[in-house]
Amino acid sequence: MLMNGGFSPLRGFLAKADYQGVCENMRLTDGTIFPVPIILDVSEELAKGLEPGCKLALRDFEGVMLAVLNVEDIWQADLQAECEMVYGSTNPEHPGVAYLLRNTKPYYVGGTVQGIEMPHHYDYHELRMTPAQVRERFRSMGWRRVVAFQTRNPMHRAHQELTLRAAKKLEANLLIHPVVGMTKPGDVDHYTRVRCYQAIQKHYPHNMAILSLLPLAMRMGGPREAILHAIIRKNYGCTHFIVGRDHAGPGSDSSGKPFYGPYDAQELLKQHEYELGIKMVPFKMMVYLADSDKYVPADEVPEGVQAKSLSGTELRERLADGRDIPPWFSFPDVVEELRNTYPPRNKQGFTVFFTGLPSSGKSTLAKVLMSRLMEIGGRPITLLDGDLVRKHLSKELGFSKEHRDINIRRIGWVASEITKNGGIAICAPIAPYSGIRREVREMIAPKGGYILVHVSTPVEVCEQRDRKGLFAKARKGIIKQFTGISDPYEEPADADMAFNTTDLSPEECVQKIILFLEKEGYIGAEKQ
Ligand code: PPS
Repeated sequence: MLMNGGFSPLRGFLAKADYQGVCENMRLTDGTIFPVPIILDVSEELAKGLEPGCKLALRDFEGVMLAVLNVEDIWQADLQAECEMVYGSTNPEHPGVAYLLRNTKPYYVGGTVQGIEMPHHYDYHELRMTPAQVRERFRSMGWRRVVAFQTRNPMHRAHQELTLRAAKKLEANLLIHPVVGMTKPGDVDHYTRVRCYQAIQKHYPHNMAILSLLPLAMRMGGPREAILHAIIRKNYGCTHFIVGRDHAGPGSDSSGKPFYGPYDAQELLKQHEYELGIKMVPFKMMVYLADSDKYVPADEVPEGVQAKSLSGTELRERLADGRDIPPWFSFPDVVEELRNTYPPRNKQGFTVFFTGLPSSGKSTLAKVLMSRLMEIGGRPITLLDGDLVRKHLSKELGFSKEHRDINIRRIGWVASEITKNGGIAICAPIAPYSGIRREVREMIAPKGGYILVHVSTPVEVCEQRDRKGLFAKARKGIIKQFTGISDPYEEPADADMAFNTTDLSPEECVQKIILFLEKEGYIGAEKQ
């Protein structure tokens, strides 16, 4: 964005005085408005080797040199203060704050950037137009007024109606300009979104709208970010910019308090639009009126008329259950793209992760469950039993905490790949530590189902069974660090199910797991 002019007037990463001006009052030292610091963060080690006047090669992850930074300033930033000034919060539930506090290195380096080679993107090459290319497209098509629409979500009918309304009212054309860099954690991936945008583009009047992808990292900075978005769109040659409700907002914190008011972004942009040289097109939320089959802004709903809308959560639930998504909400071709990425639960992969002491019954339950799921059929199944994994994946590992964690991380990674690809992974290691179990859940849950089953058979019963004679050896000290005897087992507080196999047969336990999977929709017919 620095190299292609998207961040103009910036010519590089902010030097210290500009950084301070941007943070404190949204101004560069020459007085130009700029709302969000664009910085290069480096480690202390690298910072110590730099001095003003030196040149720093900027490379991508493969080592390709993209640019040279002419170093002007090196300083240690006060990240908390930056959060407060830029985001108005230091709460790490704000994704911009979290990124700054957790992922940013302690030193900043400022200076102009001399571009050598643009970063390589292998996806949607023809849609990644630079500001100059977009401006040229506008010129060649004779578009003098263009209204830009920023988005990080799939577009549905409400968005289409809103953008159409704006374009018609202004007698302008439309630039659909979605962000394909970092967005809010948990957002729909950009590949799926781009397919949705391509599908919706066909529903606009001929030659009214073009689609171009914006390689911006969003900060979810609400009002300040709205100003950044407006500057960027001005640089891409747009004359107008749509700002809706809670623009670039991160939502609410865990106490339910929103980080920004719903129209804060519109208000801030309104104050500066003249200076920015791009006009804001403010919009209220669009809602659907069933009787007249049309969308209107929420504040234009006639009294006594019931308006309809569908929340993001409701949409996700309908996708997960394979339920209908009404055509008034979204175009069928957009819904089809979403359904391909988010199949209903009975077509998603899932992992059943058993954890428990040695000889607690994990392996038996895992085997019985595997047979039951094989009988049901429909998905490939992989059993990652503790012993099997130690033979094939983790042969070199011992039983220290460090090694056990590596072992479980490997199992988690394999299970997450299986889950992502629509299969079933059944894992049955001891997995005695809660920290790594949490990591595994976080790895797998975004890709499909994750069910943690605690096999809670007490240690005395496990020891009595002692099928492999290991408890006896552990008691004698022949085996060291033996879980339940000379090594800890942290009981899970987040298990979806727990079974003490002392008095329960494996078939009874597995039947309960099957019922649970049915209830959650992972097996059986789709919910209607
Ligand atoms: S862990 O902690 O999850 O990495 O352990 P896991 O990979 O499941 O391996 C457990 C099996 O290895 C045998 N074994 C030991 N277990 C615990 N502690 C020590 N020190 C140990 N040494 C060997 C034991 O047979 C475990 O198998 P299960 O099936 O759990 O009885």
